[in-house]
Amino acid sequence: MKRDFLTLWDLSPQELQALLRRAQQLKAGVDASACPLIGQSIGLLFEKASTRTRVSFEVAIYQLGAQAIYMNPQETQLGRGESIADTARVLGRYLRAVLLRTFGHERLEEFARHSPVPVINALTDTHHPCQALADLLTILELKGTLEGVRVAYIGDGNNVANSLIEAAARVGLELVLACPEGYEPDPFVLERARQEGRGDILLLREPKEAAGRADVVYTDVWVSMGQEEGRAERLKRFRPYQVNEELLACAKADAVVMHCLPAHRGQEITSEVLDGPRSVVLQQAENRLHTAKALLEFLLKG
Ligand code: CP
Ligand code: NVA
Repeated sequence: MKRDFLTLWDLSPQELQALLRRAQQLKAGVDASACPLIGQSIGLLFEKASTRTRVSFEVAIYQLGAQAIYMNPQETQLGRGESIADTARVLGRYLRAVLLRTFGHERLEEFARHSPVPVINALTDTHHPCQALADLLTILELKGTLEGVRVAYIGDGNNVANSLIEAAARVGLELVLACPEGYEPDPFVLERARQEGRGDILLLREPKEAAGRADVVYTDVWVSMGQEEGRAERLKRFRPYQVNEELLACAKADAVVMHCLPAHRGQEITSEVLDGPRSVVLQQAENRLHTAKALLEFLLKG
């Protein structure tokens, strides 16, 4: 049976832990020259811009011995109205797996339903699970454990926040989110995480309260791709949610700062913090590569 990776729920807690251990091995160079996907082709169909996801996966695919084929939908028949279902069925006749970055999550689900080969979520409006894998690896490296680590997510309850909630539920992070009213994470994501997961997940309004005693302070952009229309209102509403030195002073003395990038300096985070000694954003970005390799190996083994 093919295995998709559309959300964190597609991996059992044991599989997720094993994947993180494998990513650590790959990062350390264990079996790093193994090319388990030699001679295969993997497609990247991206309906939104990307730097990290595209390049980390293209490099991961190359290092595993396969070929990456990047497709801009505007240059495919999908951009001229060919259906998602037909596109998925046809691509599955050529490719070993497909990464899709798109808008509505239901578009990804539809693609996966019709795809005969594994589909990986490269970001949708509501989920970014590949980012969460790299986030977990980074926290594990820095804190030595995931269980009980207190992560404060400050800002928009967006795709990155939703996947962080699911990740927390899977591994037992203590996650405290501070989001303005009307910009909370997806209620279904929260509900499922609380019912089926083992993390402690709390939703607050006050950024300083959330940052209190935090081991990790995490933020993301206030205007995600596809939300440009509401930009002015968002910039106003999120102003009190900036991650700056004053907010960071509420966290533990050894707290680190995470951001999935790209960042908007002066909006959700100050340059001082993003470029400061507690920022681990480049380690986090590098870990996209190691977790991408572990994920591809896991989904495409056998
Ligand atoms: N963090 C992340 O997914 O970055 P890109 O949009 O550059 O892929
Ligand atoms: N929330 C951001 C993440 C980018 C990696 C967006 O969707 O634009």
